[in-house]
Amino acid sequence: MSIDNTKKILVTGAAGQIGIELTAALREKYGTENVMAIDIRETEVAKNGPFKICNILDFNKYKKIVNDNNIGTVYHLAAILSATGEKNPKLCFDINMNGLQNVLEVAREYEQRIFCPSSIAVFGPDIPKENTPQDVALNPTTVYGLTKVAGELLCDYYFNKYNIDIRGIRYPGLISWKNRPNGGTTDYAVEIYFKAAKNENYQCFVNEQTKLPMMYMPDAIRATLELMEAPLESLKHHSNYNLSGMSFTALELVEAIQKIMPDFECNFKPDYRQEIANSWPISVNDDAAKEEWGWKPSFNLTSMTKDMLKNLRN
Ligand code: NAD
Ligand code: SER
Repeated sequence: MSIDNTKKILVTGAAGQIGIELTAALREKYGTENVMAIDIRETEVAKNGPFKICNILDFNKYKKIVNDNNIGTVYHLAAILSATGEKNPKLCFDINMNGLQNVLEVAREYEQRIFCPSSIAVFGPDIPKENTPQDVALNPTTVYGLTKVAGELLCDYYFNKYNIDIRGIRYPGLISWKNRPNGGTTDYAVEIYFKAAKNENYQCFVNEQTKLPMMYMPDAIRATLELMEAPLESLKHHSNYNLSGMSFTALELVEAIQKIMPDFECNFKPDYRQEIANSWPISVNDDAAKEEWGWKPSFNLTSMTKDMLKNLRN
């Protein structure tokens, strides 16, 4: 399927942590009027360009928005994340699976291109924790991870059966200052900066040795745009690229902040999210992303911490 430049772009879940920044980047690149944002709630994304309230489970309303706005490419971000998912598994399954199926069915009818993110949550405790391979058994222990595995498989099914150009990244935990995260296990790595920037201490909900794959949002947005621009012929994978940015323990994160703000303090009080974090990799192997579409991260813990604190304190 080739790219049709006369058609517009739609972002679902556009009011969320990634959605706000991805929508802004797409509007910058393709023109504000060419990027429609939808969500069940309004945030600043609604004020900066075309926006409609739409529950992704409402198939007819979603299809009408696609039809009325001549949408050719969809970035499908509407989802429930891991921590909220463990509190409400039924809601997580419903939105993550049935929402995706609605998007894919409409994509089939309108011959759209799709970006659908996956997550490091596809992995379970039975994989090599360090440098986790691209292609490995996926046995997640969370309902969120389960929906992401099934989502990857469903996307590949639509690619193989209906020739829909679908691409996706297994994002690591994403760290951003423009927007707060919502109900994820990696949220501590964002919340800590918001607290430090206000000269407040932080109580971290995972222990100090917890080490997970993370990425700064500018890298994640660039990766998303680069993957969607890559020639289809060069891609051997589609909906499931491992993507590596950096990995650090919660203690190393505290120490990186203390290098800039020596008075900052953090204590550790693990809760139910510790078990989720324990089931995920420490680092992932992203050779496929490097080889197939030239991925290269640009931020590490030190440069990200400097940039996060500078922006949040401003
Ligand atoms: P988020 O929770 O910040 O945003 C999701 C958005 O979806 C929210 O604005 C929410 O209002 C909206 N939404 C929820 N239910 C909806 C429904 N029924 N209909 C329409 N919209 C609905 O999440 P995010 O962090 O921006 O994540 C976006 C995608 O990226 C998700 O698929 C998530 O699994 C994936 N991802 C995120 C991270 C991360 O660290 N942020 C990491 C890995 C994967
Ligand atoms: N950051 C996400 C979460 O913690 C990973 O998909 O749920």
